[in-house]
Parts: sequence; structure tokens; C-alpha cells
Amino acid sequence: MHSVCDCSPSSRKSYTAGALSIALLTAVFASGCTKPVSFSESVFPVLQERCGECHEPGGKGYEKSGFSVADYDAIMKGTKFGPVIVPESSVSSTLMRMVEHKTDPEIHMPHHKSGLTRDQLDMLRAWIDQGAKNN
Ligand code: HEC
Repeated sequence: MHSVCDCSPSSRKSYTAGALSIALLTAVFASGCTKPVSFSESVFPVLQERCGECHEPGGKGYEKSGFSVADYDAIMKGTKFGPVIVPESSVSSTLMRMVEHKTDPEIHMPHHKSGLTRDQLDMLRAWIDQGAKNN
């Protein structure tokens, strides 16, 4: 059986939607939950799906900011002004503040679209706090 700290997408699929959010909430609030969030399995697909249409070379988000979600290196490089992810500190990460809508409304991301789900925000935050690794 899966433990509540098992956050990998393969095991998450077996939960129903309701059980999934409860499991995630439990995982987030349970102390000592160190199950790693995978960049390739969890973070990358979400950024590709929700940001990729504008943040790839040729897209308007990329053209304006220089931020591309094409691969891990591009994501860590950030915008033309510098990184938007501070490994181990989601609170200092511009990317996190933008997707949590703590920035100026003009740069809430995804731009003029509905935001990420709560589960996606929790997953991104955990990944950054675990060191934003290319795992
Ligand atoms: C519909 C198009 C669109 C989508 C989808 C989108 N963006 Fe953007 N993004 C933009 C545009 C346009 C800008 C430039 C905003 C500006 O500077 O006025 C931008 C700017 C940015 C910046 C730089 C902000 C700055 O000025 O420092 C970051 C970081 C960013 N986006 C991250 C994301 C992330 C993460 C996602 C997905 C969760 C995302 N974007 C989804 C269009 C988009």
C-alpha cells in the first residue's frame, strides 16, 4: 500500500480525486515527510502544460521575459534578469510568488489564465524546498 508521503504520480493515480487531495494535504502537513518530488515526473509536465505555450522560443512570454520552460536548465536559468527559482527557498522564489498570485496582477502566471491547482502549487513548492533538483 502507499503511504501518505508517497507523492509520486504513479502512485497518485490510484487515488480517487477526493482521497488524493486529502492524501496530499496530509503529506504537506505531516512533519518529516521527505518523499522527494520528481522534476521529470511531476514538475516538468505541469510547467510544460501550463506555461509552455507562451514560454518557449517564439511564445510571447518568452519573447518578453526570456523565461523558457523548454528544459531543466532553461527553467533554472530564469528570465533575462536572472533566476526565478531559489533552491530550498520557495518563499524567495519569484516563480512561486507569481503562480501563487502574490505579485503584481500584471505578472500573475499563467498570464490571463486560471491558476495552477492547489495540488500543483503544493507540489512545486515542495520541489523547490527540496532543492529544485533535476531528479
Ligand atoms: C498566455 C501566455 C502565458 C502563459 C500561459 C504563462 N505566461 Fe509567463 N509570461 C507571459 C508574458 C506575456 C510575460 C511578460 C509579462 C510582462 O513582463 O509584462 C510573462 C512573464 C513571465 C515571467 C517573468 C516575470 C518578470 O517580469 O519577472 C515568469 C517568471 C513567468 N512568466 C512564468 C510563468 C509560469 C511559471 C507560467 C506557468 C505557470 C507562465 N509564466 C505561463 C505569458 C504567459
